Amino acid sequence: MRRGGCRGGRMDPEIMEKLAEEMKNMTVQMGEIQGVPLPKSTCDIWDQIYNFQAREDDILIATFPKAGTTWMQEIVDLIMLNGDVEKSMRAPCFVKVPFIDLHPKPMPSGVDAANAMPSPRLLKTHLPIQLMPPSFWEKNVKVVYVARNAKDCMVSYFYFQRLNKGLPDPGTWNEYFSTFTSGHVPWGSWFDHVIGWWKVKDHHQILYVFYEDIIEDPKREITKIGKFLGKDLSAEVLETVLHHTSFQAMKENPLTNFSVLPSFVFDQSISPFMRKGKVGDWKNHFSVSQNIVFDEEYKKQMEGSGLSFRTEL
Ligand code: A3P
Repeated sequence: MRRGGCRGGRMDPEIMEKLAEEMKNMTVQMGEIQGVPLPKSTCDIWDQIYNFQAREDDILIATFPKAGTTWMQEIVDLIMLNGDVEKSMRAPCFVKVPFIDLHPKPMPSGVDAANAMPSPRLLKTHLPIQLMPPSFWEKNVKVVYVARNAKDCMVSYFYFQRLNKGLPDPGTWNEYFSTFTSGHVPWGSWFDHVIGWWKVKDHHQILYVFYEDIIEDPKREITKIGKFLGKDLSAEVLETVLHHTSFQAMKENPLTNFSVLPSFVFDQSISPFMRKGKVGDWKNHFSVSQNIVFDEEYKKQMEGSGLSFRTEL
């Protein structure tokens, strides 16, 4: 079956050829929606994205980039499949979970991929709360929001922007530190994102989960996510989810490590997608003065939000 440029676990060669041609002539272009930097291809179809029609039984994974989106996709998918690993291996993670705010041309847009998908659907977004398509709230869709501490997000995003040829080159680490801190990365300010979603979490069916908590005690968090989704997981299913969504298992799985994408899309010789999966890697990147500057900015922006993050365990 051909879905989202993919047949089974393999990318469609015809689409890959078109993609290679497109990437050769491509300069990465960004646009803005209400001041939030987004890929130009997303801005070009903004009406379609904003008017996306959610369905009551959709489940949405919402995150700021690099917060553990792919990890949560695999966890939720396996929970909903009651631990059926074979079914969860039906397609690469980016095909089975449409990314509604992306149009990775010449592959279908996330909106088109989602529209073509039978229910129940698992969907992904990186949109900040103010840009969310209203139908998610009208249909009272369940959302799992994953938040990860800013410092580790910044490091992970730096490497990701280097390897992902569809995003702007991040420049040097020192340059990127300023770009990220001032909110000028694709999908905007980390601060606005995590605070925006935090503020509305009690007004909708939103489970707000922290990456650091899942690292600390994945069993506890997977059980919590299962409950939220209406699933009481048996010990056996819990073990299966735990095992198949471990960092090592996902790093070795071609359907979750993005190795099915060619290097002109994701150049994993620069950095693997499944890079470290740790809390506290920022300490290997932040200088002493960057840490002071960031902590000051963090205090200013987070004050009064009632939201706190752990940057080490
Ligand atoms: P690092 O770059 O710090 O290693 P996203 O899916 O939102 O793009 O997030 C990617 C980040 O989540 C990467 O972080 C990746 O290694 C990490 N990640 C993915 N699967 C994971 C897992 N099973 N356990 C821990 N971290 C995981």
